[in-house]
Amino acid sequence: MATALAKAAEGAESVEHAARIQHVSKSFTGPAGSQLVLDDITLDVAPGEFVTLLGASGCGKSTLLNLVAGLDEPSAGTIATDGRPSLMFQEHALFPWLTAGKNIELALKLGGVPKPERRPRAEELLELVRLKGSYGKRVHELSGGMRQRVALARALAQDSRLLLMDEPFAALDAITRDVLHDELTRIWAETGLSVLFVTHNVREAVRLAQRVVLLSSRPGRVAREWTVDIPQPRRIEDAPVAELSLEITEVLRGEISRHGQQ
Ligand SMILES: Nc1ncnc2c1ncn2[C@@H]1O[C@H](COP(=O)(O)OP(=O)(O)OP(=O)(O)O)[C@@H](O)[C@H]1O
Ligand SMILES: [Mg+2]
Repeated sequence: MATALAKAAEGAESVEHAARIQHVSKSFTGPAGSQLVLDDITLDVAPGEFVTLLGASGCGKSTLLNLVAGLDEPSAGTIATDGRPSLMFQEHALFPWLTAGKNIELALKLGGVPKPERRPRAEELLELVRLKGSYGKRVHELSGGMRQRVALARALAQDSRLLLMDEPFAALDAITRDVLHDELTRIWAETGLSVLFVTHNVREAVRLAQRVVLLSSRPGRVAREWTVDIPQPRRIEDAPVAELSLEITEVLRGEISRHGQQ
């Protein structure tokens, strides 16, 4: 692919960090005063690295991801990314009046891809997420899993080197989610993209990542991190995945009881 995705694979060594989060804190001010949500977060994502950010509900995962995406400003600290990241959320946020293909083409258009190149590129991306032949399908004709595939293709259309994912598979059934884990792992390996993936599902975090970063709650701090040395492709039910998930769950439980249930 003659795109930044391919360049991400080729040039992975030339950039030091896909994302560099240094001493980042974030407070929100509401009627009850100021609430410190993230406290002194320092975290690097290496080029081509797959990192999952794990933590209890309300610990600030989405807040951190939004800061990395540039949708909001940190109250303190700095964030640097290798180019503009692309984002994928739990809700697919596709335009229902456009077909799958046109949703992707819109992202290509916004990215400055010339018109004649858009359709072939959209077809190529649909093939990458295994939706060949779905170019003309409207959003309501697609299953939940297919919609998330289109959303993934659209995120990839933005040609970023860093993909930020906020619980993108949380609303899917277990089997569909399993399939999409395989697809995401394959696409990540093929493209050399860096991924920062938010989840509160420990098994999912271990299934996908090279590194799992656990955030504590109230305020969110990096509590611990684990390198996942289990070879890919993994299955969520593999014994080593289950074993490490158990260890992480114990620490997560400790964090939740120490900081109060959300
Ligand atoms: N724009 C905002 N204004 C005020 N408070 C906010 C805002 N965004 C988030 N918060 C607060 O920050 C805290 C962290 O929220 P955030 O959405 O980052 O959590 P999360 O870890 O993503 O949770 P979940 O797993 O449920 O998605 C919550 O207490 C939330 O109410
Ligand atoms: Mg969230």
